[in-house]
Amino acid sequence: MEAVRSSIQLSISTLTTKLHSTPSKKPVINLQFLRTPNSSFPPISDKHRSYPTETITTKSSTISTEPANPPKIEDGIQDPGEKFDWYAQWYPIMQVCDLDKKVPHGKRVMGIDVVVWWDRNEKEWKVFDDRCPHRLAPLSDGRIDQWGRLQCVYHGWCFSGSGDCKFIPQAPPDGPPVHTFKKACVASYPSIVQHDILWFWPNTDLQYKEIHLKKRPPYIPELEDPSYIKEIGSRDVPYGSVVLKVPYFTSKADREGGRPLEIRLQKLDINGFTAEHEAGISKFLPPCVFFTAPLSLFQAAPLNTASENKKPSSISQKRILLIFLCVPVSPGKSRLIWTFPRNFAFWIDHVVPRWMFHVGQNLILDSDLHLLHVEEHKMMEFGHSNWQKAYFVPTKSDAQVVGLRKWLTKYAGGQVDWGDKFLGALPPSPPREQLMDRYWSHVVNCRSCSAALKGFNVLEVVLQVISVALIGLVAAARHGLISAAGRTALVGMAVLSFAASRWLSHFIYKNFYYHDYDHSLK
Ligand code: FES
Repeated sequence: MEAVRSSIQLSISTLTTKLHSTPSKKPVINLQFLRTPNSSFPPISDKHRSYPTETITTKSSTISTEPANPPKIEDGIQDPGEKFDWYAQWYPIMQVCDLDKKVPHGKRVMGIDVVVWWDRNEKEWKVFDDRCPHRLAPLSDGRIDQWGRLQCVYHGWCFSGSGDCKFIPQAPPDGPPVHTFKKACVASYPSIVQHDILWFWPNTDLQYKEIHLKKRPPYIPELEDPSYIKEIGSRDVPYGSVVLKVPYFTSKADREGGRPLEIRLQKLDINGFTAEHEAGISKFLPPCVFFTAPLSLFQAAPLNTASENKKPSSISQKRILLIFLCVPVSPGKSRLIWTFPRNFAFWIDHVVPRWMFHVGQNLILDSDLHLLHVEEHKMMEFGHSNWQKAYFVPTKSDAQVVGLRKWLTKYAGGQVDWGDKFLGALPPSPPREQLMDRYWSHVVNCRSCSAALKGFNVLEVVLQVISVALIGLVAAARHGLISAAGRTALVGMAVLSFAASRWLSHFIYKNFYYHDYDHSLK
């Protein structure tokens, strides 16, 4: 995604500083990498995928954005033989660490409203239609009752983890068992936890009940490797997952970080595409996974040192993967789940609280948020199928953008298939403060940021109370009880305390509610 600019460059110290940065100037993740002879692309495995090799490149200049002979981009003509089924895939819903087991959670994915809740009887997360079969009230507004059932709070119907209705308070005990009727059940979606993320299969047909035995979400070994540590977060963003998907790799050479980049699409088929670039290799695994690996930051031991005579296989490398899950929510809306597993600098995660990472990562997202929102609206004026008329993408740095558009056109109907839920029109643009909101798009869904916000709010009140109390003390003290120097000190502390509370108020608003990212002032 262009929102997450990954300038692949420089040193390990730069990496740790930038990756976990709190707000600074222009937010750019700078990662140094050094491709080593023995570095290899980590196996992302899905045993049901196969990749016939096809090399595709954008035929383009690598230097100028205005070449004398603009390259012709191969048409992404729809392949009638292979069609991507948007409703026969696993979709990530949310990282488990931010789900509270005590309450149901309402989420929307692929235009489907679901309620996610913890079934303590089966010790599993469940994903149901967020719609009570009685009179369609949202079950996400409900509760988990004392027997661990999901209860609709409108009229109290209760449901087990299988979706069966177990209790209808209004049904007389000696009457017909209406709760056993099929129409009293809630539709339950297949779901699975993988990589600490809850995924669901957007089809409640019984034939998919055991779908996890045949097909699983993409498996990324580093996310389960104990020698890696990962930080995870998510944010709802006001543009579609198609716009969000493609990372824009830069290596800072001018103010906006641009310079020629060699990115080559290695293969493109119904299972996505692979791109090779100087940073390593990126993969798009439809419908949601985009990741870049490996970034071999540097070798811990030099090659061929006479003193140690280390073999290449014994060289330990510091590596980091950039993994983005771009989840379609509804037209013009998507959810980004990011995680960056790395095998070094574990101490950072023990010292720096998670919310501080998120402040920096949200700033990166803010920097492109308005740009991408507007880009998508302008694209809609052309229509997704006319992306080649709308875009001028002559350089190889845009190869992944071209790859994604080609993949969409060739296999997936040009855009997300919303079924009959939406006509495809984008919602109108909200005011800027709402567009770039951080609270509802991130903080409220993040346990660490919510806890930090609560703590800062308490601290702000405490500082104000101290300030008022000190002034009150000075005013109430009888003449002569407190020396002139003491009065001055107390008033000074009161002023400082009040100033600190005002600064804190500004800090809270800017980092947890709204940060108006203005490029012209950066
Ligand atoms: S709408 Fe849910 S119990 Fe009536």
